[in-house]
Amino acid sequence: MSILSYKISMVQFPLLVLLLCGVLGSPVWAKTHHRTFVIKETPYTRLCQTKNILTVNGEFPGPTIHARKGDTVIVKVCNQAEYNITLHWHGVDQPRNPWSDGPEYVTQCPIQPGANFTYRILFTEEEGTIWWHAHSDWDRATVHGAIVVHPRRGTTFPYPKPYKEIPIILGEWWIANVSQILADALRTGADANLSDAYTINGQPGDLYPCSQEGTFRALVHRGKTYLLRVINAAINNELFFGVAGHRLTVVGTDASYTKPFTTDYIMITPGQTMDLLLEANQEPNNYYMAARSYSSAANLPFDTTTTTAVLEYATDSNSNYSIPSSLPLLPAFDDNDAANRFTAGLRSLASKDHPVDVPTTVDERMIITVSVNVISCPNNSCFGPNGNRLAASLNNVSFENPAIDILEAYYHMIGGIYGDNFPNKPPFYFNFTGDNLPPMLSFTRKATEVKVLEYNTSVEVVFQGTNILAGENHPMHLHGQSFYVVGSGEGNFEEKDILGYNLVDPPYQNTVGLPKSGWTAIRFRTTNPGVWFMHCHLDRHLVWGMDTVFIVKNGKTPEAKLLPPPSDMPPC
Ligand code: C2O
Ligand code: CU
Repeated sequence: MSILSYKISMVQFPLLVLLLCGVLGSPVWAKTHHRTFVIKETPYTRLCQTKNILTVNGEFPGPTIHARKGDTVIVKVCNQAEYNITLHWHGVDQPRNPWSDGPEYVTQCPIQPGANFTYRILFTEEEGTIWWHAHSDWDRATVHGAIVVHPRRGTTFPYPKPYKEIPIILGEWWIANVSQILADALRTGADANLSDAYTINGQPGDLYPCSQEGTFRALVHRGKTYLLRVINAAINNELFFGVAGHRLTVVGTDASYTKPFTTDYIMITPGQTMDLLLEANQEPNNYYMAARSYSSAANLPFDTTTTTAVLEYATDSNSNYSIPSSLPLLPAFDDNDAANRFTAGLRSLASKDHPVDVPTTVDERMIITVSVNVISCPNNSCFGPNGNRLAASLNNVSFENPAIDILEAYYHMIGGIYGDNFPNKPPFYFNFTGDNLPPMLSFTRKATEVKVLEYNTSVEVVFQGTNILAGENHPMHLHGQSFYVVGSGEGNFEEKDILGYNLVDPPYQNTVGLPKSGWTAIRFRTTNPGVWFMHCHLDRHLVWGMDTVFIVKNGKTPEAKLLPPPSDMPPC
């Protein structure tokens, strides 16, 4: 730094303090934006069929929210559809404000048909790509959109400024009505019907019937670099994604910067986002982008289709559009090593401007088994395995939605709604990742149990996958704060694994793919009082009960206490 700039920064210092503290509490650079989201049913034609889908403002995918770090966005939701709905701002911490977080029966009762509710989205530390989605039943299949949090004015990306940004929202499409798919699965106890297509920005792409016309096309100029903001909004599947002839450099995930690393493909779980740089450095032509399943559960059927979009180089000649010649080389659908290798490449940037703050000591340690289970049905009358009903659990507790939301019960001290006995350990130890586990282990029980945490506690959670029924990758997601992913491995977690933790540059994420037949360890500090859902982001597992809730108690100072509820909280 030169002497001159040093002097200037000393002069600016008091001004900066003034700016940071603001006059009335919120920093003066922060802006408040107002949006209106109207939920309505809108006809959409895909795969040669027209059906009504739930949308926001008639758009699918829904509108993008742009904000800068530190801003507030106020979204008024008007429910003009025939379904109950809630919205969630996935990856936004919402400090002290669980009232606007959204998961139904956890932080609010649903917004009923004809009713309104206003969400206040408080952006603090997020910077990069996140997203919003419905958090009621499987409404998020079509009710979702991107959130782009730009750097604060006067600051910029920690990488060369890309020429343009390209949103890539990966979705999943059913020809049938999605609420019917879910209702059928819950009625019979069997697995849900597979989807009929994946989508890129709402379009299946030209490998599907009747889909060529709308295929998403991104126009690029040779020699320029583009920022792909990739979001996996699919309901039930992890995906591999790549662009033919081009390498991708990962620079961020879940609105947190990463050390750049270059790869031919990404593996992205539902809930996750990836910010990727793509250099348009190939012969001007058309190139396929494509996504398809990473399906880790052996022998389970999955949607085997491939969704495509086109990277189209601008040329001087008005040559006719030609279908790209080859698809990107993606790993095989069951290539666990390829999935784990990609995930292991994610590291926090850990720079002066974007430091890591990973807890080095732990006050509360939890080991949580993650399992797909069954619950028995009278006379084996269900359509899941052996006449049982499919279920799922954390530490063998299968979460059941309460009659009113947990936040309300907690805040108003209403008894009998939830228990606070979510266990710190699995109820019994066995070879979690062994083959041919005894069938007895597959049974679980329904309960509404939460884990209560003191304010400012350093928490470690080790997620332990089990092979009950079938081992598979589970995208574990926490509301209310991101966490550092400090370790991960194959098989059963052991004490000695702690020695191998990365406490230097672990990635900072809100959703982590727990590897099939393996474990993942996360750490975070409870500095956000509230009621925070934690669940698998595969929605079939979510509705089967692979969920729990963390209640973070108030701290001592006024800034460490919950905000009061807004006056328009929807009633149950
Ligand atoms: Cu993407 Cu509980 O949410
Ligand atoms: Cu899962």
